[in-house]
Order: sequence, then C-alpha cells, then structure tokens
Amino acid sequence: MHHKIDILVATTSGNTEYLADQLAAQLQQDGFTTELHYEPDYQQLTSSINQDSVWLCCVACHGAGDYADSMLDFAEQLHSKQPDLKPLRYGVIAIGDSCYDTYCAAGRDCDEQLAKAGAQRLQDRLEIDMSIDDPAKKASTWARSFTEQMCIKAE
Ligand SMILES: Cc1cc2nc3c(=O)[nH]c(=O)nc-3n(C[C@H](O)[C@H](O)[C@H](O)COP(=O)(O)O)c2cc1C
Repeated sequence: MHHKIDILVATTSGNTEYLADQLAAQLQQDGFTTELHYEPDYQQLTSSINQDSVWLCCVACHGAGDYADSMLDFAEQLHSKQPDLKPLRYGVIAIGDSCYDTYCAAGRDCDEQLAKAGAQRLQDRLEIDMSIDDPAKKASTWARSFTEQMCIKAE
C-alpha cells in the first residue's frame, strides 16, 4: 500500500496554490508522498488511476461560479467525458468568498462530479470562506482527518 496523494489545484490569483503548498508540506511531514498538480492534466490523471489513487482537490471558485483558471480545462473534460473513476478515493477543499451568490460553486461541482464518476469520497468537503476563515488552519485540521480516513478506508 503506497501512501501517495495527488493534489489538484484550481487557482487564478495564487491563494490556492499557496494553500496547497502548505498542505503538501504538512502531509509530507506526516509521512505521505505528495504530487502537486498546478494545472491538472485530465488525461494523465484519469488514465493512471489504480487501487491506491487518492486525489485531494483544492478548488477555488472564480467568475460566476466557475472553476479558477488552472483547472478549467480539467473541469470541462470531467463534465464532457463522464469517466468511470473507480477505484479512486478523494476529498475536496472548496475555496470561495461568501459575498458571492455562487459561493464555492466550483468545489461543490468537483465533489459532485467525482462522486458521480464512482469515486469514493473519504471525507465531507471542506468549504473555506476567504472573507472570514483562516484558510491554513482550517485546511490543516481537515487534512489530518482526511489522511486518517485514507488509512482507515484503505482498499
Ligand atoms: C473575479 C473574482 C470572482 C470570484 N468569484 C467567486 C465566486 O463566484 N464564488 C466564490 O465562492 N468565490 C469567488 N471569488 C473568490 C475567490 O474564490 C477567492 O478570492 C479565492 O481566494 C481565489 O483563489 P485563488 O487566488 O487561488 O485564485 C472570486 C474572486 C474574484 C477575484
């Protein structure tokens, strides 16, 4: 059993990239191997799924509820190709700002699409409100229990 986590990042202005870097450092300290995907490659990621695959999606919302730039292409393909992603396991951290009607819409969509594709959600989605939350603190606590779930629900 390998303990590798692919971290997919949807960012436009860099906040989420920064957060993902911090999470990767924490996960490595906790003994996991991480690979950061700043511009997730749909083909590469979906074609390499196996029993050990775990994705941690850090998804910022932009535009009118759309995915941040770096994951737009990935999201489009996820919608249009409707893949079967079994036996992938995953978690989503949705990043947004509650002043928008479309609060965290992209992260919510990502969670829904992956579940629809047959992937197993390891833990309920975390939503980070950039206008009030401390992103690093919230994400760090969430990530600890995410990896606990990952070990409990090992294939
Ligand atoms: C032009 C613009 C549009 C945004 N639209 C949304 C939105 O629709 N829903 C939401 O929850 N947050 C929205 N946000 C808030 C961003 O998700 C938030 O600023 C986030 O930290 C950006 O992450 P990034 O720096 O990784 O791109 C928007 C921010 C900007 C600048």
